[in-house]
Amino acid sequence: MQTTTVTEIADGIYRISTSVPDVAPPAGFTFNQFLVDADEPLLFHAGHRRMFPLIAEAVTRVRPVEDLRWITFGHVEADECGAMNAWLAAAPHAEVAHGVLGCQVSLDDMCDRPPRPLADGEVIDLGGKRVRHLDTPHVPHGWEARVLYEETTGTLLCGDLFTHMGDGPALVETDVVGPAIEAELLFRAMTRAPARPRSCPGWPTWSRRRSR
Ligand SMILES: [Fe+2]
Ligand SMILES: [Fe+2]
Repeated sequence: MQTTTVTEIADGIYRISTSVPDVAPPAGFTFNQFLVDADEPLLFHAGHRRMFPLIAEAVTRVRPVEDLRWITFGHVEADECGAMNAWLAAAPHAEVAHGVLGCQVSLDDMCDRPPRPLADGEVIDLGGKRVRHLDTPHVPHGWEARVLYEETTGTLLCGDLFTHMGDGPALVETDVVGPAIEAELLFRAMTRAPARPRSCPGWPTWSRRRSR
């Protein structure tokens, strides 16, 4: 039976985590969402549609689901946004917020209510928290990829950029790059093409060497 844990990883920011041992054995895989608790609560990663009941129950340990104001994710993929319309149905004031390109290419059509398009660098003031939207096209993958940076706590919400195998702790003091490279060597999920943004911070130099 799957269980979902909720851990506060920074002041008012919670990791919602569900381990799925059947995915990528033997270590298994863990799907995470992040709840930014503020006057306008924000969810980063909507999760799979089928996991919505589990994740919604976990959110209620912090705030009522209907309080959610913003539904966000790194890129268009089932584990990132599969349940976005379930959240829109459960939270009547919620909007999906994503980069302009992602809205134009996919989300204007996919969302049950119109999404809020964000310019590169645009900030949403949540009331007590501030999230800055940064376009990162094709990093880690997807034309519409982006990250969110919560400015009051210095928390980067970056989706698949640091994928790890297994069911790791919410907070670590150890290396996060090494396990991400291990996961990349298994999944080959990152975009490694000449057109990727060369200036993107965080793009590992090892991938540049390997792509030659
Ligand atoms: Fe994903
Ligand atoms: Fe992804």
